[in-house]
Amino acid sequence: MKTAVIYWSGTGNTEAMAKAVAEGAGVEATNVADFSESIAGYDALAFGCPAMGDEQLEEAEFEPFFARIESELSGKRVVLFGSYDWGTGDWMHAWEERVKADGAELIDEGYITNLDANETELGELRELGKKLAGRS
Ligand SMILES: Cc1cc2nc3c(=O)[nH]c(=O)nc-3n(C[C@H](O)[C@H](O)[C@H](O)COP(=O)(O)O)c2cc1C
Repeated sequence: MKTAVIYWSGTGNTEAMAKAVAEGAGVEATNVADFSESIAGYDALAFGCPAMGDEQLEEAEFEPFFARIESELSGKRVVLFGSYDWGTGDWMHAWEERVKADGAELIDEGYITNLDANETELGELRELGKKLAGRS
């Protein structure tokens, strides 16, 4: 199963989550700024972005990227994850609905952590990566 883990992170919390998902999936995590390919050749994709704006995806890099690729998500296995601080996860609920409307097969609920993920959470993220890539 060809798998990609693509993330945006301002202060490193979502980046650490991405690295755990990628480790489980057996791939390298890619910063969205460095991902210029098409997603057409991928079977499984994990996307990470923290809550930004007012419960939104980060709007300078991640949102334009996601808007560009989401029409190709239909039928693909997708995992969502990201870090937040003061909210209650509204950005993730909206993002889940969006990828379901795109026709993606959402693997589990979006995985959210308050600020930096602890060891238990990083372990769960590794498991999620394994599941996404069909390695568990
Ligand atoms: C400009 C900005 C907007 C934010 N908006 C929200 C928000 O709407 N809800 C929330 O829970 N956290 C919000 N946060 C907190 C971030 O989601 C939190 O600090 C997160 O851990 C950042 O992840 P990162 O280290 O991957 O960048 C915001 C942070 C910044 C800098």
